[in-house]
Amino acid sequence: MVIFVAVSALLVAFRFSQVSGKGGAVYPKNWPKPVSDLSEKAISEEGFELGRTLFYDPNLSRDSTISCATCHLQYTGFAHVDHNVSHGIDGRKGTRNAPALINLAWKKLFHWDGGVNHIEAQGVNPLTHPAEMDNTLAEVIRRLMLNDNYRKQFNRVYGSDQITTARIMNALSQFTRSLISANSKYDQVMRKEKGVSFTEQEQSGLQLFRQYCAACHQEPLFTSNQFKSNGLPINPQYNDLGRFAMTGQGKDSLQFMIPTLRNVEFTFPYMHDGRFRKLKDVIRHYSENIPENNSYLSKEINGPMRLSDKQQKDLLAFLFTLTDKEFLYNPRFSFPKK
Ligand code: HEC
Ligand code: HEC
Repeated sequence: MVIFVAVSALLVAFRFSQVSGKGGAVYPKNWPKPVSDLSEKAISEEGFELGRTLFYDPNLSRDSTISCATCHLQYTGFAHVDHNVSHGIDGRKGTRNAPALINLAWKKLFHWDGGVNHIEAQGVNPLTHPAEMDNTLAEVIRRLMLNDNYRKQFNRVYGSDQITTARIMNALSQFTRSLISANSKYDQVMRKEKGVSFTEQEQSGLQLFRQYCAACHQEPLFTSNQFKSNGLPINPQYNDLGRFAMTGQGKDSLQFMIPTLRNVEFTFPYMHDGRFRKLKDVIRHYSENIPENNSYLSKEINGPMRLSDKQQKDLLAFLFTLTDKEFLYNPRFSFPKK
């Protein structure tokens, strides 16, 4: 009996770990250690809520029209659905696709080129980017200071109602660090949960995935968080050289962050420039369109994979098992009600 209660409490604790308690964010025991602090000390309930309020607040942008959530929508894994490159203030276009925000606490470097090296530094970029929110930090602070609710919230979290850039960044990251997706069908099968199993097609897809994809899209995060080339030709519209822009080293030319594939069913369009609208197109790229003699191509790929129609369908079926509805519809991550 005691054991049963303990086990079900644990299950509930896992499922709803992000919902209750004093703070912190829980993740599966068998996962690697996160890079960012997820303890109760680092993420308080009030800090998380403040970060969430900021994340959904369009008043942070110059003309009060664009919030973080404009480009990072929960139902699509916090990616910018339907926009190949992001659209910000005054309809201005960026040059890159807004990536999904999933399991960021496991990342050391951010953005497609690794141009940001700390999750707490990341927020400055969208707030001030002319094609995103186009504001100044001084103006953001001025507006927040005029708002009694924010002053109260900052006071509760940080012990004084001084609103500073560091506190805004910290609060935003308490929210973004908490965006943990670990309850897809794949996870449930791996945890051997009762009554959940792969179909034959999904099982075959998993095998293909491990053979062709997992060296880069490493389980359980579905990324090794490195920069690689998967053989995409350069897009002449943007001439984006990826990691090279940060390091200036030839070997980094055309290398991009390996994105997670969790919730990939919904994070379209795909790749750093959103060039593919459908997962079928992505799989066709790996199967047929990998260039043969491309010096940038990472060594994990030896030319086109030449998958049969059946293999392509199996792989797709497996990718769909990475969908985590609990994450995509978790009311805790949605627009704050207050
Ligand atoms: C106009 C669209 C837009 C808005 C608004 C926006 N972002 Fe982003 N976000 C992007 C794009 C595009 C990237 C990728 C940038 C790059 O690679 O150069 C990105 C990247 C990120 C990343 C890095 C993810 C990773 O895995 O590397 C985080 C975290 C993030 N945004 C959080 C935020 C927060 C917090 C806000 C609000 C303060 C915000 N974003 C507002 C478009 C947007
Ligand atoms: C050499 C490492 C490597 C291998 C192997 C690899 N990928 Fe990728 N994958 C990447 C990189 C790097 C990107 C981002 C490329 C870019 O945007 O320029 C990517 C992007 C993707 C995306 C787009 C995700 C998004 O949110 O935009 C999907 C889907 C994907 N890969 C699926 C697969 C599948 C399926 C396989 C196996 C058939 C595979 N990958 C094998 C490195 C790899």
